Amino acid sequence: MGFFHFIGVFLLFAASILLLITTISAPVVNDIALLRVHLNNGSTLNFGTFGYCVLNAAQPNDGNDWCSKVHIGYKPANIIASTAASQDFDEITGGTSDALTSTMVLHPIECGLAFIAFVISAFAGMFGSLFGALIALVAWILTLISLAIDFTVFGIVHHHVSDYSAGRERATFGDGIWCLAAAFVALFFGMFIVFFTCCAARREKRRGVASKQEVQPVQTRRKRFGMF
Ligand SMILES: *[C@@H]1O[C@H](CO)[C@@H](O)[C@H](O)[C@H]1NC(C)=O
Repeated sequence: MGFFHFIGVFLLFAASILLLITTISAPVVNDIALLRVHLNNGSTLNFGTFGYCVLNAAQPNDGNDWCSKVHIGYKPANIIASTAASQDFDEITGGTSDALTSTMVLHPIECGLAFIAFVISAFAGMFGSLFGALIALVAWILTLISLAIDFTVFGIVHHHVSDYSAGRERATFGDGIWCLAAAFVALFFGMFIVFFTCCAARREKRRGVASKQEVQPVQTRRKRFGMF
């Protein structure tokens, strides 16, 4: 269906891969984090979609990683408050942050929708592309919601660590949350390109059919010229 349509389809595919990376963050893959907190004892906390990992944990792990179970919703504010250099959170902000973590169950849903949008717009022809763009729109809206909530959750934790640890602990946003942001952009452009290339292709085809008869004499004239 043309080069631009291919670009749109590729962007939907890229978005699903990016969302997959966010989904398999710690504790599934220890090193992928939405927020990383470097503790003053040398360990690092990696907060992910379905839990967290302590990299280089002490006893009884002897420098190995320790990870929580895979679980919908966990308590990053609580975990930070329990580390040595930290203070308790304000109950409302800490509680809000912890309560909102269960919305991260949206990450695999967005990933699945982006992948379905990719498959449909790649293989299902014109109406498929319209339907694919529609599914991509749903994925995009959910990703927007996730982005807002995730930056709220981990923004609160990031802020707390920066404020109360007097530089002994350091928080940085991780690859998991940047992949989510990149997926948001890829979904936006993928959705629009797939939508418009589908409809532009249809308009061109219709114009082609309508002008066939008018074109006829021009073609014969051209042929006659070709003989000379
Ligand atoms: C550092 O502190 C964290 C949280 O209190 C703990 O889980 C980790 O094992 C500690 N690491 C070391 C090397 O003591």
